[in-house]
Amino acid sequence: MKKIITFGTFDVFHVGHVNILERAKALGDYLIVGVSSDQLNMSKKGRFPIYSEQDRVRIISALTCVDEVFIEESLELKGEYISRFGADMLVMGDDWKAKFDHYKDLCEVTYLTRTPSISTTEIIEVVKSAPTR
Ligand code: CTP
Repeated sequence: MKKIITFGTFDVFHVGHVNILERAKALGDYLIVGVSSDQLNMSKKGRFPIYSEQDRVRIISALTCVDEVFIEESLELKGEYISRFGADMLVMGDDWKAKFDHYKDLCEVTYLTRTPSISTTEIIEVVKSAPTR
């Protein structure tokens, strides 16, 4: 059985998220998703997510392409998570291209093209700037 692992915040869940998760799953048999903790997102992106880590885990767990979910507490622990879950392949969006190549001694590393024209940041901006009635 080929195990795939991927990571992300998955805040304000959108079609780019489901696309990458389905494509990651198609590369193997079992998909494990590390969902960034609220605190990790604050240190990584400078803001707390709109949805709490519990809600983001709940949403990702409900997807049929996802087999296992955990909270990613630190970016530096990726190697430990890969070993702990026995992952054969790390999949990341190509916004991270080459950034995780040093894990190639632990497992395969693959970058998938992002879905164009959508991101959590952009959705938040659009909602914020929507005229009030
Ligand atoms: N992703 C993607 N296509 C998009 C947006 C995200 O494939 N249009 C992927 C990312 O490459 C990553 C995963 O979805 O592997 C989780 O990304 P995340 O950072 O949670 O989503 P973003 O929408 O990029 O969030 P933000 O705008 O806050 O950076």
